[in-house]
Amino acid sequence: MLILGLETSCDETAAALVEATDDARRPLGLSSSDGWVIRSNVVASQVEIHREWGGVVPELASRQHVRDICGVVERALSDARATWQDVDALAVTQGPGLVGSLLVGVSFAKSAAWALQRPLVAVNHLAGHIESIWLEHGHIPLPAVVLVVSGGHTSLYLVKEEGRYELLGRTRDDAAGEAYDKVAKLIGLGYPGGPILDRLAQDGNEAAINFPGTRLTNPDRNAPDRDGRFDFSFSGLKTAVLRHVRQRQAALNAELLPAAEIADLAASFQYRVVDTLIDRAFAAAHWYGARSIGIAGGVSANSRLRKEALAKAGRSEIPVFIPSLALSTDNAAMIAAAGIRLLEAGRLAPADLNASASLPL
Ligand code: KG4
Ligand code: ZN
Repeated sequence: MLILGLETSCDETAAALVEATDDARRPLGLSSSDGWVIRSNVVASQVEIHREWGGVVPELASRQHVRDICGVVERALSDARATWQDVDALAVTQGPGLVGSLLVGVSFAKSAAWALQRPLVAVNHLAGHIESIWLEHGHIPLPAVVLVVSGGHTSLYLVKEEGRYELLGRTRDDAAGEAYDKVAKLIGLGYPGGPILDRLAQDGNEAAINFPGTRLTNPDRNAPDRDGRFDFSFSGLKTAVLRHVRQRQAALNAELLPAAEIADLAASFQYRVVDTLIDRAFAAAHWYGARSIGIAGGVSANSRLRKEALAKAGRSEIPVFIPSLALSTDNAAMIAAAGIRLLEAGRLAPADLNASASLPL
């Protein structure tokens, strides 16, 4: 069974072919990720286009998706040595994301599915990030607590059974990746901020500046029924960085801070973000008696997060599973993997499928 995954929710046009092998399906059901094989995984990044503007410009993004999508899919087919006729089913990101960008993938997928007369499934982008863990590692011990940490989301889920996700907590304001991007922008470092600050932090002293952490104990006003203790908040940290930068600029009477100070700031900021993410994920895992922790999404590419999470796993009883770098940031293999779960459950997309910018998981 060969699934074509398509992802156009933000500034990457991506297509991938993932095979669910018969061997895996017969004894275990299609939901066996041990039988998932990535045959191709193509990502066309628009970073160079948006860098000039300091962030993603939605209109430019959708136009670029239109230009790129045919070539990206053809490349995914040729990398997998497959033809259109070999494709058994299609999976496309329905949301959340930029609606104009999502519509390019959704329209393409609907047309291709109709032309080929193949089933189509509509995937939630966050489910894609979660499934990247199973795509990479196969079965992991359940129940698992999964941290999805990206440019738009920072959420904790409990997975008691493969393919089902229960929300435990989420950010009340900025996502962690968004905090990285905003902090990088305010010190004039460019876009996207995550990889840039991650690199600069390597040369900095993480104890140089004591930025505040936030621990939430009150319920979320927007979700009063949910226990708020596993929620996140990163806007206070962002404001603390802003205040620090303004103070230093005034003290030095200069717009640009010296390189050593920027490195210390990057390291201290990164320390606080990573510390918060790991602390909350392990606290949730202990609270819910989880047997493993998964970490996925663009920020899971962060070198300190990967290192510290694995080190803490080594010290505790709870193993941590993180996808490889290629599956951490936006890609279509994870969309195909999440799509396999939907196909297995028979949850096909209707012919009038529409994109949804704020699709809930
Ligand atoms: O999952 P993703 O590719 O797209 C979304 O679904 O948002 O995540 C993108 C986010 C951006 O905010 C980017 O700055 C962040 O992931 N990111 C990183 C790193 N690489 C990407 N953040 C911290 N450290 C990194 N190495
Ligand atoms: Zn993403």
